Amino acid sequence: MTTKTRIEVRPMTGALGAEIFGVDIGNMDDETFDEIYAAFLEHLVIFFRDQDITPEQQLAFAHRFGEIHTHPYMKGLDDYPEILEIVKEPKDTYTFGNVWHTDQMFTPKPAKATILYAKETPAAGGDTMFANMYMAYDCMSDQMKSMLSGVKTFNAGAKRKYNDERSRAERYAGTSAMADKVRDPGNLITESSHPVIRTHPETGKKGLYIGSHTQSLDGFTDEESAPMVDYLQAYSTKPDFTCRFRWAPGSMAIWDNRCTQHLALADYNGHRRCMHRITICGDEPF
Ligand code: SIN
Repeated sequence: MTTKTRIEVRPMTGALGAEIFGVDIGNMDDETFDEIYAAFLEHLVIFFRDQDITPEQQLAFAHRFGEIHTHPYMKGLDDYPEILEIVKEPKDTYTFGNVWHTDQMFTPKPAKATILYAKETPAAGGDTMFANMYMAYDCMSDQMKSMLSGVKTFNAGAKRKYNDERSRAERYAGTSAMADKVRDPGNLITESSHPVIRTHPETGKKGLYIGSHTQSLDGFTDEESAPMVDYLQAYSTKPDFTCRFRWAPGSMAIWDNRCTQHLALADYNGHRRCMHRITICGDEPF
């Protein structure tokens, strides 16, 4: 545990994640925010509990992290289009985010951060897991680091990723309350190439940059690339690199998509879970 001047930071695992205490998200001064931001960069994902905030207060907090990103496929709340409602109804079998990924990797400027606020959660289940991509990079052999240096990934969202012609809404239809929150991306860019080893623009640290959107490694044959992508994805999310957060109404998580992956667990069929999500714009990875 570390106590900064205004907040208390309790690390969750040896890999990443910290719970922050002594904060009212709806009412904080700049000094408190500076400490929160430092904890975000140090621990990669930070968590708050028992926050009772309005959508306006979540938006005001999000604006402190940067410009708010509008999702290419998903419709926001009617009154707050920058807030996406991530909801699973008791009848749903589909769970949004149930693959290890980092947000919007299929766009040229993927998300910097994501802020998820729990409105309604099951009594048990529906946790979210996170993995530390700096650690995944640091633990690779020098030989592997050198082979991957300069290599780019090809990443895709929507139709290309699933290799079928149905829109996302068609794929979700009948399986999820998320279906009516999806819009067709039309001509929006849903494919992008990024370095597989990226440098964090604020900390200067290197991390592995891979996720479920990654289809292949540029310059390798399909036969070479497919097992490498599968290996890197499995390796980078092994338990040693992770933490897991148990939600309750009023909990909030903020993760850094530039150095983490996350996974929403799908172990609560028959129960309702409802979250409010805001994503912050990022830069072109290098
Ligand atoms: C997501 O991938 O953004 C969803 C995470 C969650 O619902 O826990």
